[in-house]
Amino acid sequence: MVNSSNALVWLELVGRPSKFFVGLAMIAIVFMSGCQPDDDDVGQEVEWDTTPFVLSFPQHIVAPQLPLDNPLTVSKVELGRMLFHEPKLSGDGSMSCATCHLQSAAFTDTAKLSVGIRGLEGHRNAMSVFNMAWNDNGFFWDGRAELLRHQSLLPIQDSLEMDETLAGAAAKLSADVAYQHAFIRAFGDEEVTAERMALAMEQFMLTITSFNSKYDRYLSGMESLTESELRGLELFNTEYNEFFPEFSGADCQHCHGGPNFSNNQYMNNGLDEESDMTDIGRIAVTENPAHLGQFKVTSLRNIALTAPYMHDGRFNTLEEVIDHYNEGLHSSSTLDPALAATMSTGLMLTAQDKEDLINFLHTLTDERLAQETDYSSPF
Ligand code: HEC
Ligand code: HEC
Repeated sequence: MVNSSNALVWLELVGRPSKFFVGLAMIAIVFMSGCQPDDDDVGQEVEWDTTPFVLSFPQHIVAPQLPLDNPLTVSKVELGRMLFHEPKLSGDGSMSCATCHLQSAAFTDTAKLSVGIRGLEGHRNAMSVFNMAWNDNGFFWDGRAELLRHQSLLPIQDSLEMDETLAGAAAKLSADVAYQHAFIRAFGDEEVTAERMALAMEQFMLTITSFNSKYDRYLSGMESLTESELRGLELFNTEYNEFFPEFSGADCQHCHGGPNFSNNQYMNNGLDEESDMTDIGRIAVTENPAHLGQFKVTSLRNIALTAPYMHDGRFNTLEEVIDHYNEGLHSSSTLDPALAATMSTGLMLTAQDKEDLINFLHTLTDERLAQETDYSSPF
């Protein structure tokens, strides 16, 4: 796995837009958002711009399947970024997507249950938003949105989140000269539709990537892991073995495997017995009894930044999460069989094992994500 190069080698899906171009676009937007509709930039040409946006990612990451019917362009990504940070999308202009998806916390928030418009508490913990291009099996804890374009319109209309109608949001944007221009650049004319908003937000979210953690640098041979982190990595990847405790691992990769530390499935990780399931999870979407209590297996990248944990934010620390898997599983008919098999003994992790696992999980933090100006508010 470890190669000898001393730099992360980045692949590009098409060809990365130059920073210079993105920079120019940003300057233009900052400039225009300062304009009033009546001091319109007469004579300034705003044109449809179809320059492709090229997603880049390191060599050790497989290329994602990007939607063929919504090819990334620099101008649509930029419009999506404006929309993601736009409080006008909420009924009272108080909150944007970024209010609950904070860049400083890997695009999630720190609340147990996210808090929406007028201080209303939602039903679930906000999810992180990065490497969405590598999520190919639905969005939300229960997977009820098939694609990001479907997902992105739901919080706007949710009465506990942004509580605005799509027509209301579109009307506000249509009256704003910065958006008139941004829609022309992205779509060729200034018509604001919910579909265009959704396609642009999908594009922006597809471009938020996080592959610059210590672990990635370790894979690229740029940095080494400590002895404890390496032991944690081994425990993470080693199967549970009831008969040989000294060779038994925590088997986290069973579900959180692969380059994005998620198998993109919905599973029951033993949080509750049937009678205690207040949130029934995926079954509400599929109506398949096998999906009772199943939730999306989330990526463990940046996990040290995204407490509290689980769909209801029930655990405050990674220590509590490890204790859950080690000795706190609850049985139910849909509990994953690999986890059920560990229940008689627990994972048999020692205090040192737990510490090593947590030290390894900390190597998945990408400090660049919080600082990347391509993702931050353009306003
Ligand atoms: C009030 C807080 C709040 C606001 C505002 C909000 N979200 Fe979320 N977001 C959440 C919560 C909570 C979830 C999980 C909801 C669920 O599973 O039912 C979530 C889930 C998501 C997911 C799913 C990620 C995954 O891995 O499946 C995406 C993507 C997302 N939000 C994007 C957005 C966008 C785009 C906007 C703005 C249009 C937005 N959010 C506004 C709280 C919020
Ligand atoms: C059987 C599959 C499975 C296994 C094995 C598993 N997990 Fe999970 N994990 C999940 C699912 C599903 C969720 C989301 C559950 C929910 O919120 O209802 C989750 C959630 C988490 C979360 C919280 C994520 C967040 O965004 O809040 C952490 C941290 C975590 N797991 C770490 C681990 C570690 C460490 C191990 C190994 C000891 C492990 N998991 C083993 C399925 C699994």
